[in-house]
Amino acid sequence: MIKRFWGKQRREDVPSADSLTLQHVPEHVAIIMDGNGRWAKGRGLPRVAGHHSGMKAVKRVTIAANDLGVKYLTLYAFSTENWKRPKAEVDFLMKLPQQFLEIELEELIENNVQVRMMGYRSELPPHTIAAMEEAVVKTANNTGLVLNFALNYGSRAEMVDAVRAIAADVRDGKLKPEDIDDAEMERHLLSTTLPDPDLLIRTSGELRLSNFMLWQLAYSELWFTDVYWPEFTEKHFYEAIAEYGRRARRYGGL
Ligand code: IPE
Ligand code: IPE
Ligand code: MG
Repeated sequence: MIKRFWGKQRREDVPSADSLTLQHVPEHVAIIMDGNGRWAKGRGLPRVAGHHSGMKAVKRVTIAANDLGVKYLTLYAFSTENWKRPKAEVDFLMKLPQQFLEIELEELIENNVQVRMMGYRSELPPHTIAAMEEAVVKTANNTGLVLNFALNYGSRAEMVDAVRAIAADVRDGKLKPEDIDDAEMERHLLSTTLPDPDLLIRTSGELRLSNFMLWQLAYSELWFTDVYWPEFTEKHFYEAIAEYGRRARRYGGL
């Protein structure tokens, strides 16, 4: 009863997962979940219906990633640029974490998933922060999949903040300019406790990064699909993982 959707029982329902070379499963998968609005429009529905439906895809992919043994799953849920959208849409998006977690938090806990948030908290409404924090606290001791929501996240802001903090350390005599290196930079990024993504997936046919993890994606494998996020299933996820397994990562070497 407890493992209604998660774990081994579910995996048997999706035989295509078995065809994957599991040793090639990426440690960290990041996803730009895009196309909710277009998906809704194509069905004559309001854009927010696409966001609502996108929550189900979040659940599907979380299950699939957990089952496959992916260690970190970062989902781009709201960018620092998404505030430009109409207020009603932004308000709806800000309620989604609550809605998602109200339904799913118990199962996330049961399945050892650790929820985290990566983004600027101060601009988020209190109810959004409260929902995220409850999930983060209640799953903090879990040791399974890290489900990292990029919420009010922007890569340029993240890097500018890192540079500011480093400059302040230099000014205060705590750090010498010649000691600034990749590791120093990474200590100041919002992703500091995470390894770089091995695989980036973007849905909806857009071929851009939209200010997402620009530093961290330096050597990530990129995988794009035309499928809109609400119709992204575990099968698409396995397809991306299988393709990742066929890639040769060279990091500039041979
Ligand atoms: C992704 O879908 C969700 C967010 C950016 C919050 P969109 O809302 O960007 O959907 P499209 O790209 O307009 O179809
Ligand atoms: C990127 O999608 C942000 C998220 C998925 C949260 P957008 O829909 O905001 O990106 P652009 O505007 O098409 O580049
Ligand atoms: Mg979009």
